[in-house]
Amino acid sequence: MGVPELSAFTVAQKAALCLGSDMWHTAPIPEHDVEALVLSDGPHGLRRQPDGGDHAGIGGSLPATCFPPAVALGSAWDPELAREVGAAIAREARAQGVAVVLGPGINIKRSPLCGRNFEYVSEDPHLAGRVAAGLVEGLQGEGVGACVKHFAANNQETDRLRVNAEVDERTLREIYLPAFEHVITTARPWTVMCAYNKVNGTYASQHRWLLTEVLREEWGFDGLVMSDWGAVADRVPALAAGLDLEMPPHLGVSDRAIVEAVADGTLPEEVLDTAVARVLRLVERARARTAADMADPAHHALARRAAAACMVLLRNDGVLPLASTGRIAVVGAFATTPRYQGAGSSQVNPTRVDSPFDELVAALPDAKVDYAAGFGIDDPSEDAALAEEAVRVAAGADVVVAYLGLPAIAESEGFDRTHIDLPTAQTDLLARLGGAGAPVVVVLANGSAVRTAPWEQHAAAVLECWLGGQAVGGAIADVLTGAADPGGRLAETIPLRLEDTPSYLNFPGEEGLVRYGEGVFVGYRGFDAAGREVAYPFGHGLSYTTFAYDDLAVRVSGTDVTVEVTVSNTGGRTGREVAQLYVGDPEAAVARPPRELKGFAAVELGPGEQRRITFALHARDLSYWSSTERGWLLEGGEFTIEVGASSRDIRQSATVTVGAPRPRPPLTAGSSLDEWLADADGAARLREAAGAAAILGDAELRRVIGNFPLGRLAAFPAMGITDDVLRRLGVV
Ligand code: BGC
Repeated sequence: MGVPELSAFTVAQKAALCLGSDMWHTAPIPEHDVEALVLSDGPHGLRRQPDGGDHAGIGGSLPATCFPPAVALGSAWDPELAREVGAAIAREARAQGVAVVLGPGINIKRSPLCGRNFEYVSEDPHLAGRVAAGLVEGLQGEGVGACVKHFAANNQETDRLRVNAEVDERTLREIYLPAFEHVITTARPWTVMCAYNKVNGTYASQHRWLLTEVLREEWGFDGLVMSDWGAVADRVPALAAGLDLEMPPHLGVSDRAIVEAVADGTLPEEVLDTAVARVLRLVERARARTAADMADPAHHALARRAAAACMVLLRNDGVLPLASTGRIAVVGAFATTPRYQGAGSSQVNPTRVDSPFDELVAALPDAKVDYAAGFGIDDPSEDAALAEEAVRVAAGADVVVAYLGLPAIAESEGFDRTHIDLPTAQTDLLARLGGAGAPVVVVLANGSAVRTAPWEQHAAAVLECWLGGQAVGGAIADVLTGAADPGGRLAETIPLRLEDTPSYLNFPGEEGLVRYGEGVFVGYRGFDAAGREVAYPFGHGLSYTTFAYDDLAVRVSGTDVTVEVTVSNTGGRTGREVAQLYVGDPEAAVARPPRELKGFAAVELGPGEQRRITFALHARDLSYWSSTERGWLLEGGEFTIEVGASSRDIRQSATVTVGAPRPRPPLTAGSSLDEWLADADGAARLREAAGAAAILGDAELRRVIGNFPLGRLAAFPAMGITDDVLRRLGVV
């Protein structure tokens, strides 16, 4: 059964369709057989509120599998895994009658302080786009809509409903938009959610350039744009800008405003019709889905496999994998009460939660495993008795496994962090444990980067587990014992100090304004450009085996570049490597990052096995966004091609020359003397028109006034570039 024609609806009904009917439903129009759709958070599991539920609804949602949040899933560098997780979430959505899952969230991690970084994928748009596309394909392949959010430049929680993100277009195009662009052009999500904030002075919910020109006209988005919850400041301009659905509905106000604007002619009815058609299309798309069974036990197993694939082994002196016998002291309250997801609208009510301690005991039946909490889980202050007990339990152990992390109160939707340190109660305890003799393995639970520099000398190994979802306890046991290789690689840089991060001086802004002053130099792009040391670089992560990279071959054909490299497992165990391809343009007309991720490929190899990997680069991968041309510009010349195991572990590199016509802006009276003379044709014309003008032969003088526009030099007749010369050149 199709949806009725637009002409069947009154203006009031059309206005109603452009608003939800309550917190989680679109509006039904029963007389036209239009049913309400259920929308539900998202993104790493369902937060389906029973009808009548509240907004935050932290505890009240129906049980669902809590998969690893985006901070973890992004670290797996595995779009296929994201697809599997998306499909599983969609099956649960079908079981719970949900039509659209409100995710994935793909805002760029501009600062490690952003309170919502645990919900976002990466500091890099290429990686964020690929992982998110996998999630969207997984969801929609099962007949459930995705909602890519928050569009755009929502990179902080401070003042998030009002703050004006001031971002130049090049930075938007190169950093903050490409993940959205990739998902929209390849995975074709049914819906997009606009951000709360303003972008360059205009609310994202009213931003015609974002919601219509870029999203639809440039990228071809054919779905529906909904507001973030409460993001609509003024319904009619928002509708005109391309915002189809307001959530939750401001009933009696927004609908009335739409009806009145149509009546008084300030809103053309066609604009309303366009939005309504998109709502009806969504209703129609959602009708195709069928019911499914809930609580599929395979989903917990998938959550466990995924969590292990996300874990990043930051360092390891050989203590991991753990020996299967001996005495192990498990320390840290997170071992029995794991932190596995962040707080706010994404909080899932899990179907079950594994205890890391119990799982480790089960995985090592021949070892003796003791436990001490060591510190309070919610309270960052020191507890001498707990610490003392932990030191006692650790004494005489062959190895100590310390489960450390950020307390839940440290990071959440709604506010940003002010520092990136672990609580001192934990680091002080670690120093004591580290001094006692047995090697200490640190297992971290945190939703966004924490500083490791102050304490890692006390650790023989550090396993960054992020927030790993409900099965993280078992997954940690799998990785610690070597049943699984630590699959993750850093999707965000771990700095030595917060002050080193490129956005430091401009985050989170003040007086309602945040300037994206670091421009395109976000994350590793900025660290590399400044040559700044980091604790662990973007892309880093160890395996239990080792890999070699050989035989780089690069072929250029026009503006396409094909890169091949062989990766071999040179160690004694099966393991997973993520080969990363970075591109740089050392001589460019604009400042460009030394290297940018443009491809990656994960390979699982047994001992001695090798695989040839191929990457394809196209003109866009080599280009920058030119603010003067307002378009992507490929500057012909030399490019560096680097392949490695992280952004700072480049194993193979080459320089290639890619030919592209050099952009030649037309020469005018506004072009500088240097610009005229740098252009062979322009120089010849100028010499002919100016004759023996003194300035053309005086190299020293030209250094001083070469940046004068030609037209201004006419005021200095002694220079020889007179009004007559300008006339002869045809530029006045
Ligand atoms: C969040 C969204 C979420 C929505 C519905 C908002 O506060 O920013 O990400 O989908 O609430 O819960």
